[in-house]
Amino acid sequence: MTSSIVSKPSFLSGEIKIPGDKSVSHRAILCSALAKSVSTVNNLQLSEDVLNTLNVVRQLGITIDKKESGYQIFGKGFKGMSKPKGDLYFGNSGTGIRLTAGVLVWQSFDSELRGDSSLSTRPMKRISEPLSSMGAKLLLTPENTPPIKISGNTELSAISYEMPIASAQVKSAILFAALNVKGVTKITEPLITRNHTELMFKQIGVDIQVNNNEILLSGQNDFEGFEIDIPGDFSSAAFLIVGALISPNSSILIKDVGLNPSRTALIEVLLSMNADIEIQNQRKFGEEEVGDLKVNYSELVSCKVDAEVIPNLIDELPILFIASLFAEGESKFFGIEELKHKESDRLVAMQSGLKNLGIDTQYNNDTFSIDGKGSNFLLQEGQIDSFEDHRIAMSFIIAGLRAKKQIQIMNSNCINTSFPEFISQLDSLGAILNESK
Ligand code: S3P
Repeated sequence: MTSSIVSKPSFLSGEIKIPGDKSVSHRAILCSALAKSVSTVNNLQLSEDVLNTLNVVRQLGITIDKKESGYQIFGKGFKGMSKPKGDLYFGNSGTGIRLTAGVLVWQSFDSELRGDSSLSTRPMKRISEPLSSMGAKLLLTPENTPPIKISGNTELSAISYEMPIASAQVKSAILFAALNVKGVTKITEPLITRNHTELMFKQIGVDIQVNNNEILLSGQNDFEGFEIDIPGDFSSAAFLIVGALISPNSSILIKDVGLNPSRTALIEVLLSMNADIEIQNQRKFGEEEVGDLKVNYSELVSCKVDAEVIPNLIDELPILFIASLFAEGESKFFGIEELKHKESDRLVAMQSGLKNLGIDTQYNNDTFSIDGKGSNFLLQEGQIDSFEDHRIAMSFIIAGLRAKKQIQIMNSNCINTSFPEFISQLDSLGAILNESK
């Protein structure tokens, strides 16, 4: 039987600490594995995506110990990884496969990287092109999708690369490849994307410089192990933020949330929609901004989101569509094509889910529009397919807090790819949910 969640009208109140960030967790595992000595990673995200990457690193000969305080990862330096026995499995994770490819292209051994049915349809030419121009040897399927077969080559060269698309995964794959390359690799981004790789490299002593959208990395400087506290995942917090904003009487405090400015455009947009969100206790974990978020129910108004901002809220678009539905007036989102290349085609998934609930939306000229119904609106009863995409499932579970009766979300197990604690955290904040496995 497929898993499903029934989400019923309710509101959120109380305090929660959000689990570790997915993007930072992947990067922390890879950097620790390449360090010359042991690293301690605290508050690692324990999702399927991250655990798959952890397991891959184990298959590459790196010892990992779970301690009470966090994970100890016994890095063996740039030349310490060993040939894995079998294929390397990344499950649902584009970040896992693309970033790890950036490390495996410069190893002395061959490897094969694969994923689940969703990851097996995702575009990989975006990484194979720049990596090949560095001298890497990668073979994709004829559709340019995984599995990725890599022939190890320890002699890559530095490149100067102007990225055609704004993607932090592509940027990071090149940066991980550049670590062991002689000379300076230069990357120019069309729009600034999340900069967790750059910040972590800076923290551990890699020679990296960033000037606006230009990044320079001087390779072949190895580094010692380090200790890192992973901030809470802003993209996970986004579901709780919107849940509180749209459900009358809600008031929540979300603690220790990562507030890296390249991730938090959702806050700016929600504030422009009249949201009552206050950032408290702002501080840093290493190079990363962190804070607590106080969020109260708000009567929202519509928003306009420009194409330049999209990379800084790309993962939050599905839940922002839900927020816009409960805002007064028409909201518009420009330049959202990349949404089609995520764990599902998120544009199709959101349009079809909303349609099942009687809501028409428009997509023309790479612009999505949704006619907001205002804060008193209640959704009709309905059944939604998650398209096996965690962010689609969580978006509609939040929408269910504002249904007349209930909304059932089918194939909800996929939530475990990024936020296994989602249901229990929502439950502890007072949401009324029924789960069947
Ligand atoms: C990520 C980058 C983004 C984002 C993904 C995580 C990362 O993907 O959607 O969830 O950790 O670098 P793209 O680089 O494909 O935009």
